[in-house]
Amino acid sequence: MRHVVITGAAQGIGRGLAAHFVGQGDRVASLDLTEGPADALATDPNFRALCCDVTEPASIEAALASLEWSHVDVLINCASIFSTLSMQPFWEIPPSEWRRVIDVNLNGVFFVTVAALPYLKASTAGRVIHFSSAVVPMGRPHYLHYVSSKAGIVGMTRAMARELGQFSVTVNAILPGATVTEVERETVSPEQMQAMIAARALARTQQIDDLTGVVAFLASDASRFMTGQSLIVDGGLVFNGA
Ligand SMILES: NC(=O)c1ccc[n+]([C@@H]2O[C@H](COP(=O)([O-])OP(=O)(O)OC[C@H]3O[C@@H](n4cnc5c(N)ncnc54)[C@H](O)[C@@H]3O)[C@@H](O)[C@H]2O)c1
Repeated sequence: MRHVVITGAAQGIGRGLAAHFVGQGDRVASLDLTEGPADALATDPNFRALCCDVTEPASIEAALASLEWSHVDVLINCASIFSTLSMQPFWEIPPSEWRRVIDVNLNGVFFVTVAALPYLKASTAGRVIHFSSAVVPMGRPHYLHYVSSKAGIVGMTRAMARELGQFSVTVNAILPGATVTEVERETVSPEQMQAMIAARALARTQQIDDLTGVVAFLASDASRFMTGQSLIVDGGLVFNGA
């Protein structure tokens, strides 16, 4: 039974991943602004929903301490300002919105990982999995704050991996393509979604389950000698330059 902390698990991909790990018999803690829906996951004894703001280190530390776990085996940084964003040319992004997106999506990942570090070091094989996005290699226009924050995660992944190797903690990132969740959002119009699907090597809708196996691999012993890597999981829409 692993101890898994997932930020942003009140909804969307984070919640889907939480359900996956609970289904595997792991103990999962969600760190999110809200507890999430009162669904079957919420009442599972192996699931804890803790309210916390990833931009507030004291709030994260209190949430982790309240778990009374001696260690954390897997940290998944999924929390993000994402589904609430609207598209706009970058010169129209208000400074307050720019700052908040960077604060949650980049600073928040730093704060959570620092707070979780004592627990990850106490694991025999700590795993950190960051959620970046395939919009980074794509250079998707009209939400530059989001793209910039997710590009920062790629650099953070490489440098964190080098610093945490001495503690046998691996750090990797996943760059998902546009993934359908239960949450409606304005960032991808139906027309844009159809165009993206048509441009994929695997020309179909991307579901949360299409990410679960990759996350499970990165959380497992099978990926023990892999760290600092960023994996694009988007059905073959964009490719790493090589
Ligand atoms: N769904 C996609 O198409 C897609 C594509 C590429 C990358 N991603 C990334 O995957 C991750 C999950 O995406 P999603 O679709 O589930 O996003 P989502 O917007 O549905 O969920 C994000 C979660 O983060 C939480 N959150 C926001 N601010 C927070 C804060 N300050 N403190 C704590 N929690 C906070 C929200 O409450 C929400 O539960 C995100 O990092 C997103 O950027 C998603």
